[in-house]
Amino acid sequence: MAEQKQKYSQFKGQSRLPKVAIPKRYDLKLKPDLIACKFAGAVKISVDVVADTKFLVLNAAELSINPKSVTFTSNNKVMEPVDLELCEGDEIVVMEFKESLPIGVGLLSMEFEGTLNDRMKGFYRSSYEHNGEKKNMAVTQFEPADARRCFPCWDEPACKATFKITLEVPSELVALSNMPVIEEKLNGNLKTVYYQESPIMSTYLVAVVVGLFDYVEDHTPDGIAVRVYCQVGKASQGKFALDVAVKTLGLYKEYFEVPYSLPKLDQVAIPDFAAGAMENYGLVTYRETALLYDDKHSAAANKQRVATVVAHELAHQWFGNLVTMEWWTHLWLNEGFATWVSYLSADSLFPDWKIWTQFLDESTEGLRLDGLAESHPIEVDINHAGEIDEIFDAISYRKGAAVIRMLQSYLGPECFQRALASYIKKYACLNAKTEDLWSVLEEESGEPVNKLMNTWTKQQGYPVVSVKVKDQTLEFEQSRFLLSGSHGEGQWIVPITLCCGSYDARKSFLLQTKNETVDVKEFLGNSGHSWIKVNVDQTGFFRVKYDEDLSARLRDAIEKKCLSTSDKYGILEDYYSLSTACQQSLTSLLALMSAYREELDYTVLSNLISIASKVARIVADAAPELLSDIKLFFINLFQNSAERLGWEPKQGESHLDAMLRGELLTALASFEHDLTLNEASRRFNIFLDDRNAPVLPPDLRRAVYVAVVLNASKSNRSGYDSLLRVYRETDLSQEKTRILGSVASCKDPQIIHEFLNFLLSSEVRSQDAVFGLSVSREARETAWSWLKDNWDHITKTYGAGFLVTRFISAIVSPFSSNEKAEEVEQFFSSRMKPYIARTLKQSIERVHINAAWVKSIQSEKHLADAVKELAYRKY
Ligand code: BES
Ligand code: ZN
Repeated sequence: MAEQKQKYSQFKGQSRLPKVAIPKRYDLKLKPDLIACKFAGAVKISVDVVADTKFLVLNAAELSINPKSVTFTSNNKVMEPVDLELCEGDEIVVMEFKESLPIGVGLLSMEFEGTLNDRMKGFYRSSYEHNGEKKNMAVTQFEPADARRCFPCWDEPACKATFKITLEVPSELVALSNMPVIEEKLNGNLKTVYYQESPIMSTYLVAVVVGLFDYVEDHTPDGIAVRVYCQVGKASQGKFALDVAVKTLGLYKEYFEVPYSLPKLDQVAIPDFAAGAMENYGLVTYRETALLYDDKHSAAANKQRVATVVAHELAHQWFGNLVTMEWWTHLWLNEGFATWVSYLSADSLFPDWKIWTQFLDESTEGLRLDGLAESHPIEVDINHAGEIDEIFDAISYRKGAAVIRMLQSYLGPECFQRALASYIKKYACLNAKTEDLWSVLEEESGEPVNKLMNTWTKQQGYPVVSVKVKDQTLEFEQSRFLLSGSHGEGQWIVPITLCCGSYDARKSFLLQTKNETVDVKEFLGNSGHSWIKVNVDQTGFFRVKYDEDLSARLRDAIEKKCLSTSDKYGILEDYYSLSTACQQSLTSLLALMSAYREELDYTVLSNLISIASKVARIVADAAPELLSDIKLFFINLFQNSAERLGWEPKQGESHLDAMLRGELLTALASFEHDLTLNEASRRFNIFLDDRNAPVLPPDLRRAVYVAVVLNASKSNRSGYDSLLRVYRETDLSQEKTRILGSVASCKDPQIIHEFLNFLLSSEVRSQDAVFGLSVSREARETAWSWLKDNWDHITKTYGAGFLVTRFISAIVSPFSSNEKAEEVEQFFSSRMKPYIARTLKQSIERVHINAAWVKSIQSEKHLADAVKELAYRKY
């Protein structure tokens, strides 16, 4: 035994498999048993032995491999391993043969068994109802590293191979895999389904779905069959996504100059699904909320979500599936790009959505996370499979997408597109690293892309660029921006753009050092008093801090409506984050917010609303006596737009107005605007009698739900009870999650406690509990106690994975005292797990940041007067 430990120790604790044997082709048979929740499998792997070895080491986890079934055949010689060890900790199986394996291709065969688990990863079961009966379906989710829970394999993105899949399933079920079916053989109650062999691909993209479905179908002009599979009887809900998919495939073919590479594309709605969607090659799986669109009960926001998720997953069919990251360090190449590319499609299909303005919300989320000391670089070291889940975060997705946009805007869209197309062609069916992309871009553009971009992808954080005006020059200085307010290390190559007094007067340069002075005499003319906006249209991933003089000119320019939508968004967002970091006073932030009272744009107002809610929360902690005046100020601030839109949707109004109306009314409801609360409850009562009543179209529902549950309590619980009734009666997933999100805003701690328990009950799918966790400030203490009481159960249900981290971030981050941060740290110190470490640190850091902000607000001298003035100002 000791000797054996010694023998295998060289393979343990390694982040990557030894590359002495390389898989070329998998012949994989799976037979799921949906009633016993088990599966049996057999795999034959063509393996190229490239170095002298007696060992084969591959991934396997939670599988039992029949040792007698294992053989390695090479040159007609059949060898059996003398020893076979499954190391669960490392998720590998080590096979030892008596002699060295012959160099060249051999065939590794084995049989195995596993469980169809209920944890939404590997090969798992999901449940649904059919004719009143509860049924199971079998589904795979392999990214990032769970193919090994379904079959023994080289489970790394660079180990690409072809896959020939065969399924044995009950004959009445639909059985899907990456490729089209070539043959079906009926055999009593079972059928054996044979699929075409796939082109070479990574294991994390292999997929299987077995269950009862209906579908809608269309074809691309090239004859590719595109289908959307839905619950039986709900096929029409798939039509919108189908249409988006067909058009998007056409667009990407043109943009990447390479057609979609498989003969078919299926998209399936899965009732239990951990992520939002998964880009399996040719068989994309989705949460129901991200694929299905119901004309009557889905909101405009749901429609936009479906379109962008479909566009994102289809972008992966090129970026990710055809060209794959070499290792998880380059995950952002997949996710950042798919996120960015999805906006190209949405913009082209739905120009009235102004999706590139909405893109600013992606950058904002990236900037907010990357403003933490506990952030990480875009390119991050990954040493263990358990660490991968946590990097599917706003850094890889949103910062990733935002730095791509920054680069595109620096190089120009045509040059950028040409380079991407040649990158896709050059690395098709291969793997690539971040620097491979940079070198293609460098070649196409002649710019030092590698040097420029390394400062953004290898270094965590981003700069705040301070701008001061002096005589007729501008002084620029960069330093790392941290929400904690401290000054961090780091220097970036920052593509600076600015305009002066007009969008025609522009200048741009690369800020390569800490300081730089720029002459703007030519623009300032005689008056010398025009506004100056840096980071024009917010295409750069950094923040700008203006001196007081420049700030005042910009506020004036906003009021005079001189600025672009994106610039208005950026000025507000930067100012807000500087306030959070205690570098601007709350008093001046409120003054800036008041300049937006005539704003009409959806994205700007939507961020104004979100900032207003955050400000209200922090004021409730810092200066509760000011809260009612602050709320009054916000109600007045939104009044203008709310009146413009009214409650009634207008015939033929824009998508953005439909979304905006809902958000405005939700804000007014949560600031307890009486008229809004009353009107909401009137409409809700009508709706309770008739779920199709026109008084409550889907875009208004969230606002109304928030209004009726806000002041529910144990003694006055009808709003809460009625909402749960609506929850129980609907079979639309979007409606269910809308209700969970709304109920969380109830202010009564006892109701919230009851609700949190409801989230863990069998009435809420595990995938959906996370939507109910962002509870009201009044109930945050209750939520924290509840989290502690239920932590064991929660980790058991969710295990490793990103859903569990949401419990921590949602419940911990809203606190605002250093004592609470300490208490949280203490609680988790004995419960630490590698997959929660990063999120926990980030959440605790947020609590410290809130605490510092509270202190700084408390020391502002004229805040109370300013708030009074703003609350009662007459316009
Ligand atoms: N590749 C991811 C799915 C994924 C996420 C797998 C995390 C494993 C862990 C997929 O392409 C994706 O990014 N889905 C997003 C939706 C998208 C529109 C941002 C998601 O799941 O939220
Ligand atoms: Zn993705």
